Amino acid sequence: MKKIIIAIDGHSSCGKSTMAKELARQIGYMYIDSGAMYRAVTLFCLQKGFFTGDILDRKSLEKEIQNIRISFVKNSETGQFETFLNGENVEKAIRSMEVADKVSIVAAVDFVREAMVKQQQSMGLEKNIVMDGRDIGTVVFPDAELKVFITASPEIRAQRRWKELIDKGEQTTFDAVLSNLAKRDSIDSSRKDGPLRKAEDAVVLDNSHWTLEEQNQKLLELYRERC
Ligand code: CDP
Repeated sequence: MKKIIIAIDGHSSCGKSTMAKELARQIGYMYIDSGAMYRAVTLFCLQKGFFTGDILDRKSLEKEIQNIRISFVKNSETGQFETFLNGENVEKAIRSMEVADKVSIVAAVDFVREAMVKQQQSMGLEKNIVMDGRDIGTVVFPDAELKVFITASPEIRAQRRWKELIDKGEQTTFDAVLSNLAKRDSIDSSRKDGPLRKAEDAVVLDNSHWTLEEQNQKLLELYRERC
């Protein structure tokens, strides 16, 4: 079977990672969550005190950017890949609302994107990879054999993310999650480098009313058509 690259982009919290992870598992591909990398850089900035409100100390971050090492390590119990920042498991910490609140500010910084895109491209050298994010089909892998752009209505996305956070024990409200998604989508879509937009050759999927089973089937069909 042909080895391909699968790029999945879309709005915040539309279930990209769930879809991408399940597809990768079914076809035996590696899954990379590019958003986790921007979240890890954001956690690093918060830990180092680089934020004053929404103002980021870019100079300090620029000095440190080459010292930020992000890797994905398979958890042998769950079989899932977890995010490590400079050797420390940060999988849980990067999913907090505190990180979600600042991540789009960090992800809009040109030298951060440059460093992350370079790392992402080197992960795709062997193909056999599913990567999800905002600029995967447009900037990271413009030649990807399969590009998917996923969306769903803002209320449905906020409902899904709110439930996920509550289940993990995070104290937050539906309105806080909805406004975080709107803020991130707006920054992500309007930034200069690697803005969130559909690649011309991407297949658009709106999964607002699909079950997990239906969305997995749809992705599998698209994959089989390309191989
Ligand atoms: O919360 P959700 O799963 O939708 O987002 P994520 O995939 O974890 O990504 C978190 C944030 O990282 C996004 O809101 C973007 O600001 C940024 N990001 C990006 O700029 N480029 C990517 N390829 C992936 C994520």
